[in-house]
Amino acid sequence: MKYSTKTGKLNEARTDCLIVTVRAARSVIHALGLDDYFAASSHDFIDKPGRAQLIALPKSSSVRRLLLAGIGDTDELSPGDFRKVVGAVGGVLKTAAIRDAALAIDAFKVAGYDGYQKARVALALLSNQLYRFAASKQPEEVPSAQITRLVVHCDSRNRAATTRAVQHAQALDGGLEFARDLGNQPPNICNPTYLGREAKKLARSPRVRVKVIDERDIETLGMGAFMSVTRGSATPGKLIIVEYRGAAAKHPPIALVGKGITFDTGGISLKPPAAMDEMKFDMCGAAAVLGTTKAVIDAKLPVNLVTLVAAAENMPSGTATRPGDVVKSLSGQTIEILNTDAEGRLVLCDTLTYAERYKPKAVIDVATLTGACVVALGSHASGLFTNDDALAVELLAAGEFVWDRAWQLPVWDDYQQALKSNFADMANVGGRDGGAVVAACFLSRFAKTFSWAHLDVAGSAYASGPAKGSTGRPVPLLFQYVLNQV
Ligand code: BES
Ligand code: MN
Ligand code: ZN
Repeated sequence: MKYSTKTGKLNEARTDCLIVTVRAARSVIHALGLDDYFAASSHDFIDKPGRAQLIALPKSSSVRRLLLAGIGDTDELSPGDFRKVVGAVGGVLKTAAIRDAALAIDAFKVAGYDGYQKARVALALLSNQLYRFAASKQPEEVPSAQITRLVVHCDSRNRAATTRAVQHAQALDGGLEFARDLGNQPPNICNPTYLGREAKKLARSPRVRVKVIDERDIETLGMGAFMSVTRGSATPGKLIIVEYRGAAAKHPPIALVGKGITFDTGGISLKPPAAMDEMKFDMCGAAAVLGTTKAVIDAKLPVNLVTLVAAAENMPSGTATRPGDVVKSLSGQTIEILNTDAEGRLVLCDTLTYAERYKPKAVIDVATLTGACVVALGSHASGLFTNDDALAVELLAAGEFVWDRAWQLPVWDDYQQALKSNFADMANVGGRDGGAVVAACFLSRFAKTFSWAHLDVAGSAYASGPAKGSTGRPVPLLFQYVLNQV
């Protein structure tokens, strides 16, 4: 969707659909000389958060329709009610044949939000709701008119803040869509090679360099843990590197690391068949870091960023890793692989070690790492683990700001003993208990030389059930975190 900002009188807007509160609608209608018409057609509208109704105006009107957004009897909405209001608006826009709309943003006041945050939250919610993945569906299942343009109408005193919010929202929207599309692609299309090709598209900007390292070089580098995962697959693994130079070279980069398992069968420790199709989403961490990178590039943020994607398929085969195999990681530490289904940490640990060479100011990895994280937090919060509490504060605040929240869990040494192995420096799994924490503890052994955070998005990165699909999380959180570094 294409966003723009506008100031000026609402009744002079030329739009398919003006999104307003009832109160603001009345003055628009009055200026248009349509009071009687409005009284009759809005009669049934229940004015409360969560309700929205389209009202067609006479053909002669430059505003073709009003979309009334209920707010109830209040001057100021709570952030929660504001999300309900925008949610109802999005619900109508999704199904109506409307091509362009204007949102009278300053008709809505939200407690604790300035003009910037209000616009950011509204646009994030709308774009989230209006997203559609239709790449492999028959065309008639896609509605004929879909909204493609949204004008954010604001008061002139909010113009600067709203314009900035719209620019940031536009960049985020593109990154989020990129991430969601990657996640939703079927695993026969979205394999490591495909991810590499998609990442290469980011190199259209002159500030960006993309390298795709193939298996031969991954092996030569000494990434034995990474290789142990990709060995069983006929589709070769890739280490994808995107370097974005938005600031002078002396500024250390932020490094983002994504788990890009394009399909996780579990390997020889094969998963049960129920919902195994959802393991195509096991590359959502990779999709999220690539999506964030696209947003940062498009917003031309003055930061340095390196994005590393560990892309591989986890398959059982005659060349696959066996439970009991011992491999040597890039760090030199050896790992006894007791469960080949704990593969995410194996590709990530070598990629974390690889990140060291960038002398990053912080490394944030994103992974659909454990079912245990879903048990602990469900789908609302991503799990946050870190060796740097100041970094935790920043990430939690960024998530709160854009309503893409994370919740911190411990990485205490007490949990490390679960990884003890009789045959190597560590095992790749502990017992069942505290699985998300133990997985983070495993990764922490490869993040000793830098400030590091791990986001377990197994519950938040995609939805199951009737709304099955990628959510693009935590792109909003990560983009906001990078934005806050500027
Ligand atoms: N990709 C899975 C984690 C996962 C599970 C993501 C469910 C989304 C939903 C990961 O590779 C995995 O299989 N983890 C194992 C770890 C275990 C073997 C220690 C798990 O969570 O069961
Ligand atoms: Mn697995
Ligand atoms: Zn996995």
